[in-house]
Amino acid sequence: MANPSILILPGDGIGPEVMAEVRKIIDWFGAKRGLVFDVSEDLIGGAAYDAHGVPLTDEALAKAQTVDAVLLGAVGGPKYDNLDFALKPERGLLRIRKEMDLFSNLRPAQCFDALADFSSLKRDVVAGLDIMIVRELTSGVYFGEPRGIFTEGNERVGINTQRYTESEIARVARSAFELAKRRNNKVCSMEKANVMESGILWREVVQKVHDEEYPEVELSHMYADAGAMQLCRWPKQFDVIVTDNLFGDILSDCAAMLTGSLGMLPSASLGAPMANGRPKALYEPVHGSAPDIAGRGKANPIACILSFAMALRYSFDQGVEADRLERAVETVLAKGLRTADLMGPEGGKPVSTSEMGDAIVAALDADAN
Ligand code: IPM
Ligand code: MG
Repeated sequence: MANPSILILPGDGIGPEVMAEVRKIIDWFGAKRGLVFDVSEDLIGGAAYDAHGVPLTDEALAKAQTVDAVLLGAVGGPKYDNLDFALKPERGLLRIRKEMDLFSNLRPAQCFDALADFSSLKRDVVAGLDIMIVRELTSGVYFGEPRGIFTEGNERVGINTQRYTESEIARVARSAFELAKRRNNKVCSMEKANVMESGILWREVVQKVHDEEYPEVELSHMYADAGAMQLCRWPKQFDVIVTDNLFGDILSDCAAMLTGSLGMLPSASLGAPMANGRPKALYEPVHGSAPDIAGRGKANPIACILSFAMALRYSFDQGVEADRLERAVETVLAKGLRTADLMGPEGGKPVSTSEMGDAIVAALDADAN
């Protein structure tokens, strides 16, 4: 049988640096666990624009459609700020999500014990935190029409449209309920049904999918603003949160910060099952391209490495190996190794991006022996 295939899109800023560390991990699984992947690489974002004049080529997209999983670093940077909207690095990312129809974006927020004091919230609020935000990723105000900047009378008007069909809501709701069944059986759905018709429909459809297909899962509804407040007040009340594209974007940054650093959080974007039964999938860290620290060995590779752990779990059916990798990350953090973003008042051993990657490989070695 052919080896499972991975397409790596390192992107811009710190993307290539953190991806280099993921490469070490992929190589380790090949050499030590007999899990050999066919890895290919291509460009996205500003890097693709520099080489080809577009933020994602049709060829790279076609490759992404055929591999078992895509790993993406990050896109964007100040160098591209003045480009036409359609050529901006972010358009490459939005295009690949849309064209692969990756409607379900899983963003876990897990607080590693070694980092609990590093959160801006009190230790008892975040210690042991393990929640999952399921963000709808291919519709809503990010893609709705009409959109644009138009002239009306003697001034301009900027327009975006929040739009959700019943089937778009139902499929992401199903993916949240399925996840909850494998976790703590609890889903909280967030919208603004008090002010938005799309929110009213969202609430109705989520409730209907629940009542007809997942009555055994505990379901609650919350307005997204109240949800943001509750996330900061007592995040452990949640297990799975399901929400739309824009609220999910905002709430997941908020949830990420609870854990101490945006540099820690992975994500999986999943679509419909392929012929092999596994979902179409793209894995990426939640953090951005951090151009201010790019190229200086300061970036934290953990979010990207944990994104590969999610790939092991969701695309390659290797839950045991995913656990192994997550354990290695925990070990290294418990030993006090800290990239710059994790240097809090309690100190720690400062390490560079590549030293962090090497330490995780060493921890994998120690665990396997
Ligand atoms: C994210 C990012 C993206 C988004 C940007 C880079 C287009 O903020 O993945 O959370 O808004 O979806
Ligand atoms: Mg975001």
